[in-house]
Amino acid sequence: MLEIINVDKNILKLKTNTLVIGVFKNEKYSGVLRDVNSELDGVLRSISKDRGFDGSEGDSVTVNATYGKIGASRVMLVGLGPKSDYTRSAVKKAAILAAGELRGHTEEIAFSSEFSRIEGGIAALIEGLLEGSYDFDKYKTEAKPKKEFKKIQLVSKRLKEGSLKEEVRFAKVISDSIKIARDLVNEPPLYVTPAKLAEVALEISADTGLGCEIFDRAQIEKRGMGGIEAVSRGSDVPPRFIHLTYEPKKYKDGRKPKKTIAIVGKGITFDSGGLCLKPADSMRGMKMDMAGAAVVLGVMKALPELLPSVRVHGLIPASENMTGAKAYKPDDVIRAYNGKTIEVINTDAEGRVVLSDALSYAVELGVDEIVDLATLTGACMVGLGSFTAGVMGNDQKLAQRILRASEKAGEKMWQLPMDDELRDELKSSVADIKNAGSRLGGAITAAMFLEQFVSNVPWVHIDIAGPAYSEKRSSLRKVGGTGFGVSTIIEYIQGK
Ligand code: BES
Ligand code: MN
Ligand code: ZN
Repeated sequence: MLEIINVDKNILKLKTNTLVIGVFKNEKYSGVLRDVNSELDGVLRSISKDRGFDGSEGDSVTVNATYGKIGASRVMLVGLGPKSDYTRSAVKKAAILAAGELRGHTEEIAFSSEFSRIEGGIAALIEGLLEGSYDFDKYKTEAKPKKEFKKIQLVSKRLKEGSLKEEVRFAKVISDSIKIARDLVNEPPLYVTPAKLAEVALEISADTGLGCEIFDRAQIEKRGMGGIEAVSRGSDVPPRFIHLTYEPKKYKDGRKPKKTIAIVGKGITFDSGGLCLKPADSMRGMKMDMAGAAVVLGVMKALPELLPSVRVHGLIPASENMTGAKAYKPDDVIRAYNGKTIEVINTDAEGRVVLSDALSYAVELGVDEIVDLATLTGACMVGLGSFTAGVMGNDQKLAQRILRASEKAGEKMWQLPMDDELRDELKSSVADIKNAGSRLGGAITAAMFLEQFVSNVPWVHIDIAGPAYSEKRSSLRKVGGTGFGVSTIIEYIQGK
């Protein structure tokens, strides 16, 4: 259990294994930095210079403190980037870095006051520490448990005990949700099937009192969810439609919901491409095609602890996309939940097909806003790279709210235009709409397809194909699921 304590002490005397000091880009040696440096006979400055450490984000340098000179045994300098654009995201990155380097070596570290100096800084610090301490080693038969951080000392003069507690609690809730999302993405597809996602939803419901309804294959067919039915047909594992509900009205001071929103997550537990089979190299990593669903589960789990005043429906169409004898085919025409017909051009454009049912279901629930998260297109990654999600929608105000929430949450998102001239790409000669256009503008035409199923409800689509999964290891990222989207969606829901 992580204990956070606020200390108001001379930082030179503070007893700790490692004192982590946040340093702005090209910061002058004044204050704490100057004092510690001079106690250590200038070693901080000279080693920083040797290593080229200048306070850039993602950079750090660690030195052993000569015994007895200061209270700490080690000092770690971590870059916070330019002081002029100091945000929570810089704090979070610095904490991820500190956790990556120090976890396993010590159970106790201390942080200088820069970290608590901005609003939400402490939450960002804890989130970063917990995120940076994340491992997925369940399947490593020889993995040894690592020492976890037990005690974190925060040096700060102005902190009130109550606000510290609240920020720490908030950070732990968010971190827990991010961990749920990362674990689900990292698990192999043999384990995370649609039935497993449904089981996780039921567990969350049992633990928290959220409403939970699950439709199995028979109910999906009976209710006319033709998209999920079609995509799931090529697989031996049956699909599920998952519906979790958070109702605020029974909580504290009799608040009634101001609004009802739906968050919808693509839940393709493995995407082989179907009959339009992916080449082997592109199929690798397709266990992550349920990352949107993982975000929805993580967020829903957090709501009963955060008690926002809006009603939230979490919807997940869950299926595999496989090549079995009954698989849906190019040229098939299928009927979505809202009655619209879809001509299948490419069975690998399956995400939008299952989402068509979930989005029309959200409309039927009478929600005021819909936000969907989906690892929807390779085209979005080509356009924006691996670290930024694409934002599209039918309502600029809602899009702006999502973009603002993402900035606060420190998750990079960028809006793409719904260019009317692209709409012809999806015109079908036999059905209401085709499920794929040409390669050009692929992220946008995918969103235009989804738009056909949200009626006139304000809706935003977040294409997380890039940032949901990290292919490469770096000082800030481990290979695997990232939990991208959880923080933004919670920020958006809380910001009501
Ligand atoms: N799940 C993929 C998109 C994807 C690709 C996510 C790479 C993460 C990494 C999606 O189902 C897909 O296959 N999309 C196709 C659409 C095309 C057939 C119109 C794509 O992007 O190539
Ligand atoms: Mn696909
Ligand atoms: Zn897919």
